[in-house]
Amino acid sequence: MRTAKQTLQSVPIMLFILIVIILGLLSLILVNRRKNNRRINEYLKDIPGPSPLPIVGNSIGASTYSKGVLRYFIDNVKKYGKTSLFWIGSNPYVFITDPKDVEILLKDTKNIRKSRTYDFLVPWLGGGLVTSTGDHWRVHRKIIRPSFNLNMLEKFVQVFNDCSDDMLENLTSKSDGERFDVFPIIVRHTLDVITETSMGLQMRIQRQEKSPYLTALESVKKISFTRVWNSLLHPDWIFDNMAIGKEFKRNLEMINDHCMKVIKEKQTIGLNDKSFLDILLSENQGEFSIKDILDEVNTFMFAGHDTTSTAIAFILHCLSLHADVQKKLYEEIEANFGAEVGTLTYRDLQSTVYLDRVIKESMRLFPPVASISRVLDYDLELTNATLPAGCYVECFIYMLHRNSKIYPDPEVFNPDRVDAEDQHHAAFAAFSAGLRNCIGQKYAMLEIKSTLIKILQRFEIYGGETISNLQNYVVLTAPDGIWMKMKPRRITS
Ligand code: HEM
Repeated sequence: MRTAKQTLQSVPIMLFILIVIILGLLSLILVNRRKNNRRINEYLKDIPGPSPLPIVGNSIGASTYSKGVLRYFIDNVKKYGKTSLFWIGSNPYVFITDPKDVEILLKDTKNIRKSRTYDFLVPWLGGGLVTSTGDHWRVHRKIIRPSFNLNMLEKFVQVFNDCSDDMLENLTSKSDGERFDVFPIIVRHTLDVITETSMGLQMRIQRQEKSPYLTALESVKKISFTRVWNSLLHPDWIFDNMAIGKEFKRNLEMINDHCMKVIKEKQTIGLNDKSFLDILLSENQGEFSIKDILDEVNTFMFAGHDTTSTAIAFILHCLSLHADVQKKLYEEIEANFGAEVGTLTYRDLQSTVYLDRVIKESMRLFPPVASISRVLDYDLELTNATLPAGCYVECFIYMLHRNSKIYPDPEVFNPDRVDAEDQHHAAFAAFSAGLRNCIGQKYAMLEIKSTLIKILQRFEIYGGETISNLQNYVVLTAPDGIWMKMKPRRITS
């Protein structure tokens, strides 16, 4: 029998062995990482970019840039050219802006994994379509795709109609010729639309002065983005213990509780076939767990309202500055749908031509998703460089859309340039392309069209103000507002 003394003596030996094993493992990881980094560094050495600092890379430069992170990358891409390199912490990000390179990346069926920038969306979106990868993503995408079939889209158009009355009412209260910020009105509209189409819930946020749900959503979105480019907030143990991390957790809990309540209600009351959630719940017996459903609903709430409100608000901004374009557009609307606001159908919304050009040109200048990102699982051969596996690629849509060879005078809003013969088709990627393109593209276009038609039937828009502060808080954002004036086209009794 071992005495207590012998046992005590063997403790330091066991501890020593444990420390040796841990140190051995750590050195193995470090050697492996250095070997990988050596390969990555070797491949990337000729790609220009700002000099990185040790440990933080270009993080501090980006997050402290006086004009904001988006402007930091725009200015650097202008300085370093169509392919440039930035280090976020110890991770290399290659920014690509050339249409041919963008096409190579988006058509690649092997490199579909999202980069670390999306990791900070995972606490919110979990394994939803935007953030997941591999078989999980493939199976979910296949099951979710039918939610956007013709039958469902027709039902969704009805929701767009129903929610527009409140929006028009809110705009009417602003149509006295005084300047106002249009974004809060549009975002409430798209939020009402997405809650009804994704959860079957009429929240009527447009009728509320203040919406705690919207405030929570805004906070979660903003904090997720702040975290992306600030490597000091990356470790969970730092983030979770800071005020910002606690605010994030509190707001996320509120969003999730809300969604779970709706799921439970649906399970008790029964399903219909009107919302995305109903379709997912009917799949629940098979591939989808309740957590999967929560993740997908959160993903749709995120991907489906901020993007469309951003697109609509910026289109209104463009129209408020270009009376000639607005006049031509109104003529098309009046000819197709009359001067009075009425119910639009899916079929109606297929009949526009100039409207489609206006939307596309505005989304070229103000792409709601300004940048998308992948981590390479396999080497990727671009036109002028080979990017090694392990490196991150940022497809910088904002600058892709400003290629002066394809879009002469790129900063000029000119809907007539759309569909010009010589455009490279990958030079426009507002909805991305390839396997991981936007699953909600048709839905989005129908919603944008229906909203714009109704607004233009009712109001004339003018007095737009130039936007000097533009940021990328997950979606393109004008933090100081999108200001304009509106007046009724005709006085109604
Ligand atoms: C103007 C509006 C919209 C724009 C500009 C837009 C843009 C995009 C872009 C660029 C992506 C690719 C993201 C990436 O690779 O990281 C994407 C993906 C996605 N979008 Fe949209 N989107 C819009 C509206 C919508 C709507 C209305 C929905 C849903 C109702 C939606 C749902 C999704 C989903 C689920 C994905 C992930 C697809 C996947 O990876 O399989 N989007 N969107």
